[in-house]
Amino acid sequence: MTESKTPRRRVLSGIQPSGRMHLGNYLGAVQQWVQAQEEKEGLYCVVDLHAITVYQDPEELEEQVRGTAALLLACGIDPEKSVLFVQSHVRAHSEAAWILNCQTPLGWLERMTQFKSKAANKERASAGLLTYPVLQAADILLYDADEVPVGDDQRQHLELARDIAGRFNHLYGETFVLPEPVIRKFGARIMAFDNPTAKMSKSSGDAQGHAVALTDEDAKIRKTIKRAVTDSGREIVFSEDPEKAGVNNLLTIYKLLTGKDQEAVLKDFAEARGYGDLKKAVAEAVVESIRPIRERYERLMGDPAELDRLLAVGADRARALAEPKIIQIKERVGLTVPAALR
Ligand code: TYM
Repeated sequence: MTESKTPRRRVLSGIQPSGRMHLGNYLGAVQQWVQAQEEKEGLYCVVDLHAITVYQDPEELEEQVRGTAALLLACGIDPEKSVLFVQSHVRAHSEAAWILNCQTPLGWLERMTQFKSKAANKERASAGLLTYPVLQAADILLYDADEVPVGDDQRQHLELARDIAGRFNHLYGETFVLPEPVIRKFGARIMAFDNPTAKMSKSSGDAQGHAVALTDEDAKIRKTIKRAVTDSGREIVFSEDPEKAGVNNLLTIYKLLTGKDQEAVLKDFAEARGYGDLKKAVAEAVVESIRPIRERYERLMGDPAELDRLLAVGADRARALAEPKIIQIKERVGLTVPAALR
């Protein structure tokens, strides 16, 4: 049998270890990562250097990093197929970020909407919060990633990564692959259960009724979804009308978790007597999907040594790819690389 000569597309994405991983993270990003690893070469990182752009309790951060890695494994990231690693375990990320920081016009960063919302108080916001998207560009460009599966909130950061790559290539010669964002039509923006006009987010994740975390128990999931804000009508339809955002969100979640198409989803609710029936069905779909993730997560967290071993293997594999690239980047800008660092 002849082997296919086409190289596999390389996929890279990352997730912050701060807060509790929720259904939005899963449906917007992680579910796509799990699917991509069957045909593509996947690299997935827990971005602890991004997390420290705001204060993190040092002991808690260590636990969160392990917990996030365990959840990714529990969701189906297979360490045999994909490279799962912690960002700070590969020094090249920080080095590349500095070099790219020096190539990135300040104006590009000041335009980032996430920075504007997170750094409303400029006297207290860290400089890292401003240069955060450059570190993200470094994560991607270091590995010549072709595709970056993310939720809609990362769209602007990915455009910036492409701009940074394009500018560097123009100034120093062809060095970086221009990465393509992969953003789903359904699921790119899972909304909060307590306010369907706002995105489900980790920062508000502890508020009652806001999100479903991947570690939530069945009863808590059912309660959150039962209380989900909808509208005063009765129509169960996919719709972009802001008035129907709650129902649209519930249908989207159900669609993604059951793998059904739009028509089949609507058929399931053709006989529904109201939003109560919709919520019950969505809650069961969420419970059935999350229960095995939560159970695998608990098992993995029971063996921290094995988790650390898997992350060490991942970091070795990531380093093997990132090291030659950082040498190339340094050489391109005229930094000498002594033999000891080769
Ligand atoms: P983070 O940790 O905020 O989120 C991880 C992923 O989850 C997606 N996401 C959502 N998708 C749909 N609906 C939601 N409500 C929702 N909330 C979050 C995010 O879009 C993201 O894909 N800066 C990034 C992490 C990062 C990264 C990278 C991503 C660092 N380096 C390199 C890609 C490539 C972040 O803070 O994601």
